[in-house]
Amino acid sequence: MSEDHNAAFRQVRIEPHGRTLRVTPDEPLLAAALAAGLNLPHSCKSGHCGSCRARLRHGTIVYPALAAGAVPLGLTAAEAAQGNILLCQARATSDLVVEARLIARVSDVEIKTLPCRIARLTPLAADVMQVVLRLPAVERLNFQAGQYLDVLLEGGRRRSFSIASPPHDSETLELHVRRVAGGGFTQRFFGGTAQAPAFKVGSLLRIEGPVGQFVWREGEAPVLMVAGGTGFAPLKSMLRHLLERGAARPVHLYWGARHTADLYEDETVRTWVRHHPQLRYSAVLSEASAAEGAHHRTGWVHEAVLADYPDLSGFEVYAAGPPAMIEALRRHFPPAGLDPARLYFDSFDYAPDALARR
Ligand SMILES: Cc1cc2nc3c(=O)[nH]c(=O)nc-3n(C[C@H](O)[C@H](O)[C@H](O)COP(=O)(O)OP(=O)(O)OC[C@H]3O[C@@H](n4cnc5c(N)ncnc54)[C@H](O)[C@@H]3O)c2cc1C
Ligand code: FES
Repeated sequence: MSEDHNAAFRQVRIEPHGRTLRVTPDEPLLAAALAAGLNLPHSCKSGHCGSCRARLRHGTIVYPALAAGAVPLGLTAAEAAQGNILLCQARATSDLVVEARLIARVSDVEIKTLPCRIARLTPLAADVMQVVLRLPAVERLNFQAGQYLDVLLEGGRRRSFSIASPPHDSETLELHVRRVAGGGFTQRFFGGTAQAPAFKVGSLLRIEGPVGQFVWREGEAPVLMVAGGTGFAPLKSMLRHLLERGAARPVHLYWGARHTADLYEDETVRTWVRHHPQLRYSAVLSEASAAEGAHHRTGWVHEAVLADYPDLSGFEVYAAGPPAMIEALRRHFPPAGLDPARLYFDSFDYAPDALARR
């Protein structure tokens, strides 16, 4: 019997690409597609954001993390009833035909696995570290502004971080890593533990990338950018990409954080604003003290955007940060006139293994 007829594998045809993948019963369909070089739409890989939604044309799937018949958070019951599935969660229980959404411009990037050394570690805030990675001498990572990379850990686990440096400056890669309480990986940039020792300059990481469809799209429409915490990282890549190439497109950046200390590159942004009249900047603090509140806007960042731009028709929005912020934008911006197809986002979600532990 040929390997292709091995019962341990399922055939999955992805339309309209016309590609056929072989997947094992325990392999998420999205992971199989990405491994085969098919960069399908996705963001969180955790079943939350809905970016990897696709139509199941033929065959059957299961969501192993859920009770039978339950639907992941990123799908509504109505979407599921219409045959939509989430590729990052679904496993094939038969051969499948799946109709995925097409991403025109990001489909052909080469996803590489590379060893990188930590070249520099610079604290940006009490819980945010700037991590600069140096690629092997002969290697370059071709990516688009806004994309992210996965740091590969033992046991097939991975941790996602947006690239904060722009594509034209790709000799090193800049990341902004926020410490997550109890986080096995991120803690290692902040002293580490007995089980997981601290990373140092010179430590080796294995990365895979670039990944993601959260990329800058050329166009004419005015742009609103919304960052939550380290969601500033991919927007920094986009802004440097724009400003350092002399693009004149109007952009208004909103950066939501708890306190002023969390606006870890506030001064950099203010310097950009002084030199680039097409860029506006509003910092919005959600837990401001009285002293901070005297000098800053306060409240939720999405509410500040809506207060300034009650009519969002004609805008493009680029947003990155915590899932709760992204959910707020997805809920409140389309009723204010934003075309949902022009809301581009990356939701900084839990890694799949951390989600399963929860
Ligand atoms: C596309 C994408 C891009 C991302 N880009 C960035 C980035 O540029 N900078 C950055 O700082 N982070 C980013 N993240 C989030 C980052 O990947 C997680 O914070 C990281 O995986 C945590 O790993 P850990 O091993 O330290 O924690 P884990 O050991 O995985 O988790 C430990 C515990 O921490 C909590 N936790 C885990 N992840 C999160 C989270 N995201 N938010 C809140 N609580 C959490 C959970 O309670 C979990 O049980 C991104 C995520 C995605 C999906
Ligand atoms: S729900 Fe699948 S990538 Fe977010």
